[in-house]
Amino acid sequence: MPSFIGAIDNGTTSSRFLIFDEKGELVIGHQLEYRQIFPHPGWVEQDPMDILGSVVTCINGALRKFELQGNDLRSLKGIGITNQRETTVVWDKHSGRPLHNAIVWSDTRTKDIVHQFSESSEKGADAVKDICGLPITTYFSAVKLRWLLENSQEVKEAHDNGTMMFGTVDSWLIYNLTGGKEGGVHVTDVTNASRTMLMDIKTLKWSDRCLKFFGINADILPEIKPSSTMFGEINFEELSQLKGVPIAGCLGDQHAALVGQHCFQVGEAKNTYGTGCFMVFNTGTQIIPSNMGLLTTVGYQFEGEPAAYALEGSIAVAGSAIKWLRDNMGIIKSTEEVNDLAAAAEDNGGVVFVTAFSGLFAPYWRPDVRGSISGISQHTTKHHLARATLEATCFQTRAILDAMNAESGHPLKTLRVDGGLSNSDICMQLQADILGIEVSRPQMRESTALGAATAAAIHLGIGIWKGGFKAFTERERGSKDILQTFTPTTTAKGKACFK
Ligand code: G3P
Repeated sequence: MPSFIGAIDNGTTSSRFLIFDEKGELVIGHQLEYRQIFPHPGWVEQDPMDILGSVVTCINGALRKFELQGNDLRSLKGIGITNQRETTVVWDKHSGRPLHNAIVWSDTRTKDIVHQFSESSEKGADAVKDICGLPITTYFSAVKLRWLLENSQEVKEAHDNGTMMFGTVDSWLIYNLTGGKEGGVHVTDVTNASRTMLMDIKTLKWSDRCLKFFGINADILPEIKPSSTMFGEINFEELSQLKGVPIAGCLGDQHAALVGQHCFQVGEAKNTYGTGCFMVFNTGTQIIPSNMGLLTTVGYQFEGEPAAYALEGSIAVAGSAIKWLRDNMGIIKSTEEVNDLAAAAEDNGGVVFVTAFSGLFAPYWRPDVRGSISGISQHTTKHHLARATLEATCFQTRAILDAMNAESGHPLKTLRVDGGLSNSDICMQLQADILGIEVSRPQMRESTALGAATAAAIHLGIGIWKGGFKAFTERERGSKDILQTFTPTTTAKGKACFK
């Protein structure tokens, strides 16, 4: 019987479950958008039960299709998990119920908390950067947890009494899928832990100094594991058909995409266009601190191997700007329509859209700024606005690439792309023009899910992944699956023209 491997991918606005065969080919999948809660401007919440429910619906949906294709469920040998990062979930140890809505990574309610902590150290926002690789900003979990402790009596009591569990979405899902209050495991992986501001990126353990700095008790934290190892077995009533299937891979989504795009060599990078957009650049075993607004993070860690580190440039708004055109402005009915609209204009007609809905992330780190559209004239049409929306992510990517090139010492020659907006030819051509380097797009753009499946399959020794991480990476140097390369048309021999 052939073997298959599944990947749970919980993104910021939708979940999916994808099944890959032994060659890493995508066989089938199921996707579902879920509810976003915006209680106040700048606040973004999700109900942890909605997250879990959407994942379970996707698994059941995909399994039904898988069986209809004539496959036997027993051939699904393992599952990898990948997830939106930093989003903070707290739940009760005894009942397993959430103590609050999850506070999503893009939520900026913690502005004042960030200010207080930065003011409390002479190093300012860099107070704990030498330990965790991250500046203090609204983005990371520790300040979201602080907000919960300061604003919910129930959370504070549970924290102080030791009856609370904290986790990023991976921990919440694994806890529930492995039994929840009936013995679910409380774990996370190094990549997700590296986004909390609580892990020492050198030792890959929770840092006493960070915990003390933020006033957080260690007993609420999950156990940190490598990204490719045994996390637990499925034990969930609504997934009884998968009882006992191992969860053997777990990575934050941007780290999973790095693995899915086979960026295993120092100097290789990928840019994933999802709700936000995130460039991750492999720096190998070297931890490179950033002075230009990039993040130092764990790339991935396969069991028995040293961790690979990365520099990251995070953009808060990418696909969510297209959704904003659809849901708030009503100028498109489906997100795909943005491409036709943009293509009908020769240029942006002077319109510039700064999509700072939740402030600006890398390399600026300005939680205080908000979005603006400038350069509007009598001549401006929705076509110009559509084009300016696509360009917004491309220009921010350019700012990040400039910082990456300066700090990594390995100027990037080609940018590998994946995720929703990478499906847009016009956007990828704009991206190549604005960067002045080639943009390469693989045929299979579910790199995030493939990365999670890869982590699980390497641990389980399935198909093309047999023989462990080293053997796999020696065979698979770089993704061979390049469908299309976008070459800059605005530049002379790769010399960028947008300065
Ligand atoms: O850090 C946030 C990131 O993990 C969210 O990814 O794909 O949902 O935009 P995405």
